Amino acid sequence: MTITSAPEKKSALKFAALGLFVLGLGLAGWVVTSVYTGKAPVAGKAPMAGQALVGGPFTAVDHTGRAVTEADFKGRYSLVYFGYTFCPDVCPGELQVIGATMDLLGKRAEKITPIFFTIDPERDTPEILSDYVPHFHERMVGLTGTSEQMAAAAGAYRVYFAKGERTGGSGGYLMDHSSLIYLMDDEGRYLSHFNYGTPPESIAAAVAKLVP
Ligand code: NI
Repeated sequence: MTITSAPEKKSALKFAALGLFVLGLGLAGWVVTSVYTGKAPVAGKAPMAGQALVGGPFTAVDHTGRAVTEADFKGRYSLVYFGYTFCPDVCPGELQVIGATMDLLGKRAEKITPIFFTIDPERDTPEILSDYVPHFHERMVGLTGTSEQMAAAAGAYRVYFAKGERTGGSGGYLMDHSSLIYLMDDEGRYLSHFNYGTPPESIAAAVAKLVP
């Protein structure tokens, strides 16, 4: 039989479309899951050719209200984290880890700027950030900007984020986001990253090997 009746053809097409849809879902799920858990696609080693896979140019406003770009951070290494100040647990915990890492690094920490990018610029104004970042380290820089600027920065660092569940009745909401600490060199190039839950002692030991 080479002739297929119209209804059969239609259902065959539907089947093919469903198959593609399921495949697409699976792929999207893998990408989201892997980014969220901090596994692939981010490589564990710096690219040999010097090609930036993570990081790059950005524009933002710091917690003092000053307009900045990646150029303002050159000349120092950086420990970079993306999160939001309303985060109940993960973000403050990881920022404490960065602060503790800086303390453990002693004199070497002077070569490093801790940087906190918000993925919730709607609520995280420079004023809110200026009340928040000094709790974790006296030189921590908070960065915010327009939604587009922060989405671009998060994209450059392969950070996943999305508006999450609502809280309370006052229009509050949580943010879903990946939780990784990045070590960038003094030219803003990616050196390494640390998954959620890595203790400060381990991060400090790794940073000490990479920061001369
Ligand atoms: Ni968080």
